[in-house]
Amino acid sequence: MEQTQTPVKKQRILSGIQPTGTPTLGNYIGAMRNWKLLEDEYDCLYMVADLHTITVRQEPAKFRQNAMQMLGLLLASGLDPEKSVLFFQSHVHQHAELAWLLNCYTYMGEMNRMTQFKDKSAKHADNINCGLFTYPVLMAGDILLYQANLVPVGKDQMQHLEICRDIAQRVNGVYGNVFTVPEGYYSKVGARVMSLQEPTRKMSKSEAEDSFISVLDTPDVIRRKYRRAVTDSEACVRFDPEKQPGVSNLLSIIAALTGEDIEKVTASFEGKGYGDLKSAVTDVTIETLAPIQAEFARIMKDKKYMESVYRQGAERAGMLAERTLQKLMKKIGYVAK
Ligand code: TYM
Repeated sequence: MEQTQTPVKKQRILSGIQPTGTPTLGNYIGAMRNWKLLEDEYDCLYMVADLHTITVRQEPAKFRQNAMQMLGLLLASGLDPEKSVLFFQSHVHQHAELAWLLNCYTYMGEMNRMTQFKDKSAKHADNINCGLFTYPVLMAGDILLYQANLVPVGKDQMQHLEICRDIAQRVNGVYGNVFTVPEGYYSKVGARVMSLQEPTRKMSKSEAEDSFISVLDTPDVIRRKYRRAVTDSEACVRFDPEKQPGVSNLLSIIAALTGEDIEKVTASFEGKGYGDLKSAVTDVTIETLAPIQAEFARIMKDKKYMESVYRQGAERAGMLAERTLQKLMKKIGYVAK
């Protein structure tokens, strides 16, 4: 007898990136690049996390431009909107609604422990708003709305993912099986790309210009930034993030971008100096970013296409989100519409 094969349901992935300016090589290596790699094997939703962005004041025209640019870069980095759902978080109203509900299942003490809140409130001391405080709850809702199994992020998001799991388990404990409890998905190398100037801190676009590579930097700028990158006085290319953080960071970038393992990359510099290391990391970065930049320039001219991508994305995401929201509201005891 012929066997009918039931299709195996793919696991679901959700991730997001904030449109706070041009993404860095850290964003690219820690997140965007992996999103593309996961696209075939998983059922993926990727969003421009624009609701999160107003925890810090934004200039409206620039904010709008950054959001479109981020969508353009996601497409340019190779994401296929036929395979993955690409959308703006603000276009799916269920995110804000679920955030409110989950706020009532999250404790002040939990939010007080968040290191990102402490960092950001130190940086924006004149605007320590409630959104900044409850930001991890909005992020938990982003993930739980889609019953995501996996969340590919960089290591700086680990604490937020843990709190998301805690909230999901708490709600499930009260109401039964409402949410899938998600796992973080971190790449082996490059889950924490470090600053070129202070290699014990993460690479971030809110730091000094020379400390990060932006994915839209020109070859000349990339060359200059790596030339100025901090190394050490050991004069030996070794992978030792404790003792040689700067050199190890450059080795990790090469490993992440070439797909080779770190031992092999390190071995290839035996007997060579920091000049060779910097020139190799420069070449591979320029080579990786050039096609993305060319594609970005092309896509940004096609506003109709971009519009069709984000509209269709919001529609598909909205249907999934509504299902979860209704499920939770019914469990809580709200009168059905
Ligand atoms: P955001 O916009 O700060 O960063 C986007 C992604 O880039 C990763 N990343 C890095 N990875 C390696 N090295 C670095 N130096 C580096 N810097 C940033 C981040 O870990 C992240 O994966 N709160 C999130 C956005 C978000 C989200 C979500 C993510 C909102 N809702 C739901 C996942 C699921 C953020 O601000 O990422």
